[in-house]
Amino acid sequence: MFTGNIVLIGFMGTGKTTIGRLCAEKLSWDFVDTDQYIEQFTNQRIPELFRISEAHFRAIETQVFGEILSRGCQVVSTGGGIVTRPENRELLASSRNLVFCLTARPNVILRRVKTSAKRPLLDTPDPKKQICLLLKQRNSLYQSAADYRLDTSDKSIQAVVADIMALMEQRR
Ligand code: S3P
Repeated sequence: MFTGNIVLIGFMGTGKTTIGRLCAEKLSWDFVDTDQYIEQFTNQRIPELFRISEAHFRAIETQVFGEILSRGCQVVSTGGGIVTRPENRELLASSRNLVFCLTARPNVILRRVKTSAKRPLLDTPDPKKQICLLLKQRNSLYQSAADYRLDTSDKSIQAVVADIMALMEQRR
């Protein structure tokens, strides 16, 4: 029986939090979202932490990620930049974790993130350009950290959850 964690990685706006919460419900496992965890842990919002500096945010992210993954039987949704730090990639590579990378086309990402205030990296005059730039920098990191990749661009949330559950069953 699999007693590790399901970890969802991927760019902003690919559905990690919504899909992760539903997967956890299906499995009756705990759900943890790294960004929400960081906000509770620091009592500060993500943009405030970024205002201090991105490095400050990333250091806290790595600290809490290690804490979170030391437990098992959780579905963990991660911030889109989790793959940028080697320490986090090492944590992801542990055989205790089953890592799903959610993807979406840049236009779909742009539409989905428009309404969110928690993404300081996209708070620029041309967010589409920034999305494409960050995707270019990160795509290979997402690819190599993932056991499975799922494109959420044209799928319902329920369909993605069902795909994850089916892949998970194969590991049980
Ligand atoms: C970030 C993604 C955000 C959040 C922070 C940085 C990134 O999380 O961690 O704004 O670097 O891609 P989501 O992927 O949940 O939006």
